[in-house]
Amino acid sequence: MRIINCHTYEAMSRKAADILAAQIQLKPNCVLGLATGTTPIGSYQGLIKRYESGSLDFSEVRTYNLDEYRGLTHEDPQSYHYFMNDQLFNHVNIDPANVHVPDGANADADAACADYDRMVAEAGYCDLQLLGIGRNGHIGFNEPADEFSKGTHCVDLTESTIEANSRLFEKEEDVPRQAYTMGTQTIMNARCILVVANGENKAQAVRDMCFGPIVPACPASILQLHPNVFVVCDDAALSLCEGLY
Ligand code: F6R
Repeated sequence: MRIINCHTYEAMSRKAADILAAQIQLKPNCVLGLATGTTPIGSYQGLIKRYESGSLDFSEVRTYNLDEYRGLTHEDPQSYHYFMNDQLFNHVNIDPANVHVPDGANADADAACADYDRMVAEAGYCDLQLLGIGRNGHIGFNEPADEFSKGTHCVDLTESTIEANSRLFEKEEDVPRQAYTMGTQTIMNARCILVVANGENKAQAVRDMCFGPIVPACPASILQLHPNVFVVCDDAALSLCEGLY
């Protein structure tokens, strides 16, 4: 794992946007795995700036998002698909046909997940997968468990994730209790992985991800087995890793 301390959220976001932009420059029709959440917002703003200045072209880029709430349509302002349109896709020249998010509106969980797995496999998996990390070490919606997950599947969200995500909803009761998420194996199939993390509340998860035992109780710890991972953080997220890297 290559750990990069960028000191601030702004510098972390610039570095992540640099890495994503470099991937697009190197392979204009690359497959990007994308994440929602608060952490990557600055990285997406960086990509939009580069597009607006004419240095980045999304016309051939294909994207596969990690996850979606079960039961929300892509028009629902709380859906991850809506978030991605709002934070990135509506502001760059990506072809909507090249954008993929698990279909939260498909109530048939097995079909929705199998379809998504087939699509990601047909695309040849991700050239670069962007990840945030949960306070409990989750990646995508792969929550702490007794075993690592494999393909796309339906999950029951943990209380800590529901509580963390409730800040984006009017009331905690409004947070959906289930989601469809890419599995750990699908994430590990990406050729390169970029994890972004900022803030003190991610410090323990970052330490466990990079230096803890490789156990499904910390799903992100499996990234230690991937040959090509960048962990890009601010000072606070790396505060429990001092002297370890
Ligand atoms: C979202 C996702 C989640 C988030 C994680 C961190 O697509 O995959 O694993 O990356 O919950 O969220 P934030 O960035 O809001 O702290």
